[in-house]
Amino acid sequence: MILPLFLPLAWALSVNGEFGAFFQLGSISNVSRYYWNYVYCNIWEGECQPRQDDSSVQVPTEDAWSMFSEDYMQLLSDWYCSLGQCCETGDCRIINNITGLEKDLEQKLHGQHLAQAVVVRAIRGFLKNPSPEKALTLSFHGWSGTGKNFVSRMISDNLYRDGMKSHCVRLFISPFHFPHAKLVDVYQGQLKDWISGTVQHCPQALFIFDEAEKLHPGLIDTIKPYMDHYQDLDGVSYRRAIFIFLSNIGGAAINEVTLDFWHSGQNREDVDMEDLEPRLRTEALQSQGGFSQSQLLTGNLIDFFVPFLPLEYRHVKLCARDAFRSRGVSYSEEILDEVARGMLYVPKEEKLFSAQGCKSVPQRINFFLP
Ligand SMILES: *[C@@H]1O[C@H](CO)[C@@H](O)[C@H](O)[C@H]1NC(C)=O
Ligand SMILES: *[C@@H]1O[C@H](CO)[C@@H](O)[C@H](O)[C@H]1NC(C)=O
Repeated sequence: MILPLFLPLAWALSVNGEFGAFFQLGSISNVSRYYWNYVYCNIWEGECQPRQDDSSVQVPTEDAWSMFSEDYMQLLSDWYCSLGQCCETGDCRIINNITGLEKDLEQKLHGQHLAQAVVVRAIRGFLKNPSPEKALTLSFHGWSGTGKNFVSRMISDNLYRDGMKSHCVRLFISPFHFPHAKLVDVYQGQLKDWISGTVQHCPQALFIFDEAEKLHPGLIDTIKPYMDHYQDLDGVSYRRAIFIFLSNIGGAAINEVTLDFWHSGQNREDVDMEDLEPRLRTEALQSQGGFSQSQLLTGNLIDFFVPFLPLEYRHVKLCARDAFRSRGVSYSEEILDEVARGMLYVPKEEKLFSAQGCKSVPQRINFFLP
């Protein structure tokens, strides 16, 4: 399978004097695409047409890419990396840019001093360790719109070249991927295949479980062994993988603690893990659903609890500012105030926290665009 495909590659590139250019290309996806187009259009004589912006480049008329399995793409990527041309990490798909992660958390995430600190510490420590004892497991807690998804995206963008699209990253949204309780047996099989398949191809894989509070207990049982202290399971080691669970479990407790701080005139930035963790655990144990009932939270499989505090008016303004900036549109302080005023604030008396956090802020600014 490999040779017949690589030989024409070497031939095509050397014959055409493209070998040098080939190695200068920074990214494997460009290389693969280039190579694939070349082989498809010139050697296999598939149906091709000139690309619009550059008529000297032929591109396949259909998405010929999809003919190739992920395994094959993997081989191509491994082969390219084995030439030592691409990446420090030895795997082109992995960039592990901790500086970038730190910077993103500092500049783009608002009002989350705990999440910012815990996430960097957890990920940096884990990646530094050449032989971790178990997979890294983070559990993000908080209301919707407080940044849980946003931070998991930052992690994937800074650890993987292709971010969420990377073959190393898998996002599971409980109600979407596992909607029917009676199909749990089927989902268990699928989940096993997804997890083991991904890790076999990419030991430093990232699995994100969104709306984890809705995960069926049977699915948690399926995931558990991968996060445990086993040397390997069926010959595959999962110890370099990262699991992130996003849930609203504990959201009420986090909000109460933050509100208490505000009432007593203390700084929100002084809320620390000791203030939160006991309340978080209590609430988690009392809440319904597979995730909280499982021993995940009570056992020691979760390495870090990451609380996301409820966002205030000033944070919503910062989100609005970022949204305007990312669109390259100018804005005024009044407009930011107007966007922030448009959100609903709770609790009834204090009206301190945005009920939706920063969710929908990027859509809301549409009303203010010129
Ligand atoms: C890879 O492709 C992208 C989009 O087609 C392009 O912007 C980028 O410059 C390419 N990178 C290299 C190193 O050729
Ligand atoms: C890491 O991220 C920083 C900030 O986003 C960026 O300037 C830097 O080029 C990145 N480094 C690598 C190796 O990608």
